[in-house]
Amino acid sequence: LFCPLSLIVIGLFLHSTADQNITVMFSSGSGVEIRGSRGFLALTVLLPENFMNHTQGLFGVMNGNTEDEYTFKNKTTMSVHASPQQLFEFGANWAVENGTSLFTYDTEFLLNNFFYGEKHNASFLPVFLPHEDPADPLVKEMVSLCDSDPFCRFDVLTTRSLEVGNSTKLSHQNHKLLVENLEPDMSLLLVISCGWLDHPTNGKKNGTNYLLGSTISFTCNQGYELTGPKERICQVTRAWSGDTPSC
Ligand SMILES: *[C@@H]1O[C@H](CO)[C@@H](O)[C@H](O)[C@H]1NC(C)=O
Ligand SMILES: *[C@@H]1O[C@H](CO)[C@@H](O)[C@H](O)[C@H]1NC(C)=O
Ligand SMILES: *[C@@H]1O[C@H](CO)[C@@H](O)[C@H](O)[C@H]1NC(C)=O
Ligand SMILES: *[C@@H]1O[C@H](CO)[C@@H](O)[C@H](O)[C@H]1NC(C)=O
Ligand SMILES: *[C@@H]1O[C@H](CO)[C@@H](O)[C@H](O)[C@H]1NC(C)=O
Ligand SMILES: *[C@@H]1O[C@H](CO)[C@@H](O)[C@H](O)[C@H]1NC(C)=O
Ligand SMILES: *[C@@H]1O[C@H](CO)[C@@H](O)[C@H](O)[C@H]1NC(C)=O
Repeated sequence: LFCPLSLIVIGLFLHSTADQNITVMFSSGSGVEIRGSRGFLALTVLLPENFMNHTQGLFGVMNGNTEDEYTFKNKTTMSVHASPQQLFEFGANWAVENGTSLFTYDTEFLLNNFFYGEKHNASFLPVFLPHEDPADPLVKEMVSLCDSDPFCRFDVLTTRSLEVGNSTKLSHQNHKLLVENLEPDMSLLLVISCGWLDHPTNGKKNGTNYLLGSTISFTCNQGYELTGPKERICQVTRAWSGDTPSC
């Protein structure tokens, strides 16, 4: 996590920064952004429009209908007003199975812990609604930090750390900003990605963001001259502006 790195595998672009942000973009246009902050990870999954009606699982069904987000594997749908206990059962229903895992378990440790191990621990019960004791001095500090942010409040009370609550609050704010900025249609969380762009042979590119509005600029190594556009912008049509530049 600490090593700045850009790795390109066919169909996959991986970028990580020194401050623990990691972006993975797949050739399908889907991507994952992982942000590490003070020991906590925040994860954002970005899906282009062609995934509409093709998703299921924990992140809901991306179809423009918010009423069916909690759809179980057997296609039964639970109310969006479900209790935290019911949400926990919904999560457990989508627990990874040996056959659906994306990973290869190729050491004894990984095999024992993940392949043969339990995928969902039914005897683990999370805190569903932490108790707010008015006599607890932390509650006052929590209210002043979190205000009405339920995620911040939950994390302060369950971890008894304002710092953790603060990082949750920031992640939640970032999420809300992302939703506001990226939503062309307020009923959907759609992200437009133009896909990964390579640097020209004998040149460099500047920019690692492939989403709508992003600019990638190009320069040539010494002794080479650029033909084609100096920069390309990710457009609403999911295509980069201009042609491929060369050096
Ligand atoms: C990492 O992510 C945070 C939170 O979104 C952002 O403020 C910061 O600028 C990012 N760092 C880099 C190097 O992109
Ligand atoms: C997705 O499904 C909904 C409901 O069945 C339909 O109205 C909508 O047109 C579909 N969207 C796409 C992009 O297929
Ligand atoms: C579908 O799965 C859920 C969770 O396991 C269960 O509560 C529900 O009864 C199932 N519905 C049907 C029709 O099997
Ligand atoms: C698959 O996972 C389950 C637990 O989720 C485990 O009991 C089983 O041994 C695993 N391996 C195989 C080969 O099924
Ligand atoms: C399952 O959860 C219980 C209760 O939190 C815990 O005591 C137990 O160690 C857990 N089992 C595994 C394999 O993690
Ligand atoms: C919360 O985090 C922000 C930004 O990192 C910082 O400016 C602020 O002082 C923090 N507040 C608390 C109570 O830790
Ligand atoms: C890369 O682009 C950013 C913003 O678009 C700019 O601030 C930065 O100076 C550029 N870096 C180089 C090496 O050109």
